[in-house]
Amino acid sequence: MRKKIAAGNWKMNTNLTTGQQLASEVINMVNSEVNSDVQVILIPPYFHITGVKKLIGPAKNIFLGAQNVHHEDSGAYTGEISAEMLQSCGVTHVVVGHSERREYFGEDEALLAKKVRKVLDFGMTPIFCCGEKLEVREADKHFDLNKKQVEGALFGLSEEDIKKVVIAYEPVWAIGTGVTASDDQAQEMHAFIRKLIADKYNQATADSISILYGGSVKPGNAKALFSCPDVDGGLVGGASLKSRDFTDIAKSF
Ligand code: 13P
Repeated sequence: MRKKIAAGNWKMNTNLTTGQQLASEVINMVNSEVNSDVQVILIPPYFHITGVKKLIGPAKNIFLGAQNVHHEDSGAYTGEISAEMLQSCGVTHVVVGHSERREYFGEDEALLAKKVRKVLDFGMTPIFCCGEKLEVREADKHFDLNKKQVEGALFGLSEEDIKKVVIAYEPVWAIGTGVTASDDQAQEMHAFIRKLIADKYNQATADSISILYGGSVKPGNAKALFSCPDVDGGLVGGASLKSRDFTDIAKSF
């Protein structure tokens, strides 16, 4: 059985007070309302990590994620954060290759492969993002592009390691736009990605990997998306900043 996952990527939002409040509300609601077989992952900005870890407390199905990581172990990289630092704070999941990092910080597959390796080396789970821009889909090159992204960053991994990765398909045209991929578009791409993994590794490995959808997931569309056979949950941006909405999404399996 693949894991069902609702992950909330807060991006560069909240301050110390509002972030703590959001995390407390979500944790309380999730503890009382969300089925324990759903993994809920809170992915706040770095400065919240230790505070949110404390708030999560003993909850077994609530995890702590980071939005990025540096690919080197340590050293003179002012402003960066290492996998060891994150792990030492109780982080279990790290987003790697979000389209905003690719777009604004020039992250490419070669770099992302190093980041994935580093996250795995520290015993954490990479949430590896892929997804095409609108012009790529309009040119009918979206399958090629997602294949290139997945192969380039992940296919150097052993079978044992790729099983530890979570993939998030986030079409760039659906992020923060209010335009969600249709259920058919999401299912089609998720099935395609799973087949890539089956062809490279084997079907059992492909079947064990959770593939999340991201891009304007809301309480109103989560249920239909999550009932697609190859959609195992969501990586949620804007709606994760509202405790009621995010909890309702986590209840949509
Ligand atoms: P939105 O849910 O705001 O579209 O963001 C999706 C996303 O980028 C999550 O990582």
